[in-house]
Amino acid sequence: MDPSGGCPHAANARLLARGAVAPVVLPGEMEGMAVLGHDALREFLAHPDVAKDARHFTALREGRIPRGWPLMTFATVRGMTTADGEDHRRLRSLVSRAFTARRVEELRPRIEQLTISLLDDLDHAAASGGGVADLRRHFALPLPMGVISELLGVEDRYRDRLHHLSNQVVATDIGPQQAVAANRELVAVLGEIAAAKAERPGDDLTSALIAARDEEGDRLGEQELIGTLVLMIIAGHETTLNLITNAVRALCAHRDQLELVRKGEAGWGDVVEETLRWDAPVSYFPFRYPVRDLTVDGIVIPKGTPVLAGYSAAGRDPAVHGADADRFDVTRPRRTDAVRHLSLGYGAHFCLGAPLARLEAGVALERLFTRFPGLELAVPENELSRHSSFVGNSVRSLPVRPRP
Ligand code: HEM
Repeated sequence: MDPSGGCPHAANARLLARGAVAPVVLPGEMEGMAVLGHDALREFLAHPDVAKDARHFTALREGRIPRGWPLMTFATVRGMTTADGEDHRRLRSLVSRAFTARRVEELRPRIEQLTISLLDDLDHAAASGGGVADLRRHFALPLPMGVISELLGVEDRYRDRLHHLSNQVVATDIGPQQAVAANRELVAVLGEIAAAKAERPGDDLTSALIAARDEEGDRLGEQELIGTLVLMIIAGHETTLNLITNAVRALCAHRDQLELVRKGEAGWGDVVEETLRWDAPVSYFPFRYPVRDLTVDGIVIPKGTPVLAGYSAAGRDPAVHGADADRFDVTRPRRTDAVRHLSLGYGAHFCLGAPLARLEAGVALERLFTRFPGLELAVPENELSRHSSFVGNSVRSLPVRPRP
């Protein structure tokens, strides 16, 4: 895996042509595997002999993972994403009620309002930047960051710092000292926010988690409280940020597809789903570990191996999405289970924030292209530089001309 990230699709196609499961070298010359084929990934994600708890990570247990390993937080953060069975259900249930389709739909007016004010900001940024503004910075980032911060009760003044730190945590090319420092500071900032909430509880998720920690009956430990906040902040904004950025980039580069939406032949929800499939915001997700030697698509994955879920590859698997899997097509059939993308996960760890991500991205795209129908990229698409991560998949910035 290239720690500096880059566009994953050419390498994915080469790997997929060889098979649905591939051995990979992780940072620090660590041996791992990736599951890339759609059917193999679906089977693997729901397999009863596959765990997420890092106790099953052989190299970690044997002390072979150095301090400051760039993927350490993914493996060891204490929260639902590294828990199995009853522990997983307990941790997930503490926040899941806030993310049901009904509760999320109640957020629509607030999301619309925030979107409208961010479009004003984008317009102002372009006016003072010679007609060009970075859509990622001024629109795609503050929308999901604003929403998840409001849900968690995080004040405005913390947001830039939290984004900077979470961005370092998801970067795969970060040095060991920087990785340790970013993790430590993220934990410290969230600890400070939690301590303030314990003093003055509010009507927010952080206060609800603190109440669970303070109840009798071990519903939530201190490390799990902070781990859950880390997870919610990172998962709640880095991903949707990539989705909105990737969707705008795709529509600008495929104006015929934008036209189909304008003519009512496809909806904004179709754009969201096709972007998730075609340019998955989460490219390779760390980690799962087979609890015994496991054969997937004819390849043995040894017990305790760290395995990446290859969402960006599965989204373009021609065996499932057809010979034109590389084509961005908002009218593509996607309703049956056999062809539904896996980019929000599958099985017990299916994305908790899926309804929220879909709502935010749908509102963002509709409002953006309604207000700026002539919006276009300000630089050629192939000159956009990519994120330095193989976990997240997007570009670093998206300079656009927001034209009415
Ligand atoms: C486009 C946006 C998003 C994408 C592409 C995405 C993708 C994913 C994927 C692929 C997983 C499964 C990871 C795995 O175990 O392999 C996941 C899990 C998760 N997502 Fe999302 N996500 C998005 C938005 C969100 C948002 C907005 C939130 C929070 C509000 C969120 C919270 C979570 C959480 C907490 C989990 C862990 C669930 C568990 O382990 O039970 N995600 N997401």
